[in-house]
Amino acid sequence: MRRPLVAGNWKMHGTRASVAELINGLRQLAMPSGVEVAVFPGCLHIRQVVEGLTGMRMAVGAQDCALDPAQGALTGEVAASQLQDAGCRLVLVGHSERRLLLGESDEWVVRKFAAAQSCSLIPVLCVGETLEQREAGKTLEVVGRQVGSVVEALGVEVFARAVVAYEPVWAIGTGLTASPEQAQEIHAAIRAQLAAKDAEVARGVRILYGGSVKAANAAELFGMPDIDGGLVGGASLNADEFGAICRAAGS
Ligand code: 13P
Repeated sequence: MRRPLVAGNWKMHGTRASVAELINGLRQLAMPSGVEVAVFPGCLHIRQVVEGLTGMRMAVGAQDCALDPAQGALTGEVAASQLQDAGCRLVLVGHSERRLLLGESDEWVVRKFAAAQSCSLIPVLCVGETLEQREAGKTLEVVGRQVGSVVEALGVEVFARAVVAYEPVWAIGTGLTASPEQAQEIHAAIRAQLAAKDAEVARGVRILYGGSVKAANAAELFGMPDIDGGLVGGASLNADEFGAICRAAGS
């Protein structure tokens, strides 16, 4: 059985004061035992969160990493090795905001994925189609290409130490959520794509849904057979709401 994972992506939000408040809220939460929980603060706040969540069963991750794992002369970037040193256990790679607004290519995402794993970080590979691509009937092609680029470059085995997050771009921050059936269809297709190469890896990999997940819709999404938890944006900035989503994954 796959253990559900609920991940909170804080994106470019937070000040030291608001992060302290959020940590405080997270520390009060009653968390279900069978669920893994992770939060992804902005880079500037990673140490504050790692220290603030000491003793809690909550992992801390980063929202991105540099192409190469080692430190070096690359102004403004953060290496996976530095994230690992700072206490991170996971890192998001290929979030749609980075693919679309910053022009990250599949090739870069593959390199980041490999950089993360080479530093013992779990990459969370984010994939998903835009509204235009969905309306053109290209969802499976787009998501298949995004997952396939990692499989082709690094081999399917790398998914034994990775997480996939399906986040339809049209559902991110819009209040529109994919219906549980719409999401399940894509999750099943991703798992089938991996199963065609290695059935055991496909059975074990967690595929999270992201895109306007909130306490009110989490349980029905997480109830689908191939949805193993969520990657939560806006709702993860509110500790009580995030706690309710985590509990929905445990029910
Ligand atoms: P929202 O939950 O705010 O729609 O964001 C989803 C997301 O992009 C998480 O990575």
